Amino acid sequence: MTVLVTGGAGYIGSHTTLLLLEAGYDVIVFDNFSNASPESIKRVEALTGRKVTLIEGDIRSREDLEKVFLNHAIDAVIHFAGLKAVGESVEQPLRYYENNVCGTVQLCEVMAEYGCRQIVFSSSATVYGDPHTTPIKEDFPLSATNPYGRSKLFIEEILRDLYVSDSAWKVVLLRYFNPVGAHESGRIGEDPSGIPNNLLPFIAQTAVGKREKLSVFGNDYDTHDGTGVRDYIHVMDLSEGHLKALEKLPQIEGVLTVNLGTGQGYSVLDMVKAFEKASGQKVPYEFAPRRSGDIAKCYADPTFAKEVLGWEAKRGIDEMCEDTWRWQSSNPNGYQL
Ligand code: NAD
Ligand code: UD1
Repeated sequence: MTVLVTGGAGYIGSHTTLLLLEAGYDVIVFDNFSNASPESIKRVEALTGRKVTLIEGDIRSREDLEKVFLNHAIDAVIHFAGLKAVGESVEQPLRYYENNVCGTVQLCEVMAEYGCRQIVFSSSATVYGDPHTTPIKEDFPLSATNPYGRSKLFIEEILRDLYVSDSAWKVVLLRYFNPVGAHESGRIGEDPSGIPNNLLPFIAQTAVGKREKLSVFGNDYDTHDGTGVRDYIHVMDLSEGHLKALEKLPQIEGVLTVNLGTGQGYSVLDMVKAFEKASGQKVPYEFAPRRSGDIAKCYADPTFAKEVLGWEAKRGIDEMCEDTWRWQSSNPNGYQL
């Protein structure tokens, strides 16, 4: 079976590609390298001893996509390609809509043209906005507070409309909570450009000495220690969820929406403590004002994922921090050699 992985050179895409190869799938990675390096795929090939068909291309280019579908018989698509920085999306909304939404429209058009109607899409817990309660179930109300989140909501709707128009489409919308960690080898991991926006990469860069200290955004939230609580999920667990979704695709009718989270919430200070333990390094921090748009608590109800996909997260907070540390300490400059 041949799977096209858009954005497959990126953080979650490279880990999922590794598992797909290990499971025997043929994989085509399609990426414009706007936020990734071909080095991640070289390392995936070295780790698995298998070859990936790596194609540099843009999902907004019909020509680039048609070349892929013309030359390969693709059974299903896992669609990771997209821009993901919330702050940047507020400053450059059109760039986000053009890349994420228009790119997905092009992809779906070309898929339909070539008779491939099976897709797994990377959505996000951000589509729940500020949830009225936790844990979050898939049928909670949806909303968005920034263009990045809205691009995910639009794409979910577009994929639902596609199924309404043609019932041959089979779609899985995976709503990720907070992906962290790295492959246990320490050879692939998250390689953010510039100053990391997300918590764990920032903690890791502080522990390795690249950043002076962590700013903890807010210590007056209604949580057990006043700092924000999130559902951190190991990227290998998340990637395993994609393989389960892929196996499920042929049997589903229409659109399946699934939370991928652990169901366990940890605060910023819990993460700092766990990282200090895993790395043996001090992570200096100071309290700072709340970050605009942040919510107090966000964690999943993962029951449906277990029921429908037979999937649940297996890795805990210690493994998340140990694997992040192995990656960060052996690749302090990410994929830059
Ligand atoms: P990433 O930036 O590491 O990976 C995205 C990949 O897509 C990159 O390799 C980038 O070069 C590529 N890409 C972007 N635009 C493209 C285009 N027009 N054509 C071809 N390739 C393009 O991000 P990630 O963390 O691996 O996230 C993967 C997906 O999961 C994204 O859609 C993201 O929005 C979603 N997601 C991520 C998180 C998270 O915290 N990491 C949480 C929820 C959802
Ligand atoms: C962010 C995005 C969200 C996206 C998610 C997963 C924002 C507003 N939201 O959410 O859309 O789906 O990532 O990629 O960017 N924190 C600090 N100091 C830091 C960084 C973070 O205290 O330097 C805190 C935050 O306030 C939050 C927690 O750590 O309480 C996690 O932050 P982050 O990793 O950015 O994830 P989210 O806020 O969940």
